[in-house]
Amino acid sequence: MRVVVCCMLLGALFSALEGLDNGLALTPPMGWLAWERFRCDIDCADDPKNCIGQSLFMEMADRMVADGYRDAGYTYVNIDDCWASKQRDANFRLQADPKRFPDGIKNLAKYVHSKGLKLGIYGDFGILTCGGYPGSKFFLQTDAQTFAEWEVDMLKLDGCYSDLSDMDVGYPLMSEFLNKTGRPILYSCSWPAYIVGSGIPNYPKIAKYCNIWRNYADVQDSWDSVINIIEYYGNDTGNFSAVAGPGNFNDPDMLILGDFGLSYQQQRAQMALWAIMASPLFMSTDLRKIDPQSKNLLLNTNVIAINQDPLGIQGKRLVTEGAIEVWARPILPHGSVAFAVLSKSTGGTPTTMGLTLKSLGLSHKQGYNVTEAFDGFAVGMFRPKDTITIQVDPTGVFLAVAKPHH
Ligand code: GLA
Repeated sequence: MRVVVCCMLLGALFSALEGLDNGLALTPPMGWLAWERFRCDIDCADDPKNCIGQSLFMEMADRMVADGYRDAGYTYVNIDDCWASKQRDANFRLQADPKRFPDGIKNLAKYVHSKGLKLGIYGDFGILTCGGYPGSKFFLQTDAQTFAEWEVDMLKLDGCYSDLSDMDVGYPLMSEFLNKTGRPILYSCSWPAYIVGSGIPNYPKIAKYCNIWRNYADVQDSWDSVINIIEYYGNDTGNFSAVAGPGNFNDPDMLILGDFGLSYQQQRAQMALWAIMASPLFMSTDLRKIDPQSKNLLLNTNVIAINQDPLGIQGKRLVTEGAIEVWARPILPHGSVAFAVLSKSTGGTPTTMGLTLKSLGLSHKQGYNVTEAFDGFAVGMFRPKDTITIQVDPTGVFLAVAKPHH
């Protein structure tokens, strides 16, 4: 009997969970995240410029302001794994590693806020983080409160060392605890990324409780990794694109422009596809050393505008023809689309192809003005059945916007 009452109570509690209510991520969030580039480098003695410590985040914040990233929309400065001390404090609260964050997270948040930026932090739903630091299991509410007291603005909650069967209840519970702090904290859930191995995640439910969510493998510093992610998003298994919209976005992981693994064309391709996929744009690169070409791609206002389109509709892969894929996403003004022609060819010479706007579902009889996005040049005016001739470089992309002609 006691078991029945207990379960009825728990059931009532969980069905009463309201869903995340923070008004955030109306367009895909943008910022900088430490993980892909800086990993779990905790060796501040020998590698002080690159280790996970307060000065790394302060220096990135400085660069984000001075070099125009903040003004282009990249406002979150995000700590990932390996920031914490291995022990909780006497009140079981998480604490930052005292050597690497001598002034604590709250002061780091103050610094970041003073620059007009926001601070993100990382936690884990399980007993330990993926890097072996304390997880939030048994401490979800304490940790939500601690992050709010530190004036943190975003939480990435990973799922290592946890029981998959707990996630369905636990991730929503953390959403509730974040709501209860009264501080708007953008909630990034790794929940579906752990579920995909054993079935299709319940995306509508995830979207009710999380602002953004990872649902695929970690990005690595290579074209193979980027193309794998693009394939996963093109396949769209479980129709996860359908739940994207203001407040909720699928997260294919960080941008790796400016790192070691992508050619210039491949960097354009990642930027273009992340724009079409309405993906969060978290750079993970050393902004102190980034080369001008990569920087200009990250700051390209036309491409960012596609990503940040207020409709928040996630683009889809419409056509696959050999090594060519055509992707499109509806954007404002109504009736317009942004489209990308991606070439996966490694054949060494550009591919030329003919594309009609009709094949993208466009039917406005007076036609469309088509503008290339990266450089902003007019491609021309095309009626739905007209052929647009497009040339794409190997492992490169053509990105454009088509707006109804009046
Ligand atoms: C997982 C996540 C990564 C990163 C690491 C940190 O692998 O998917 O994004 O946060 O953990 O350990």
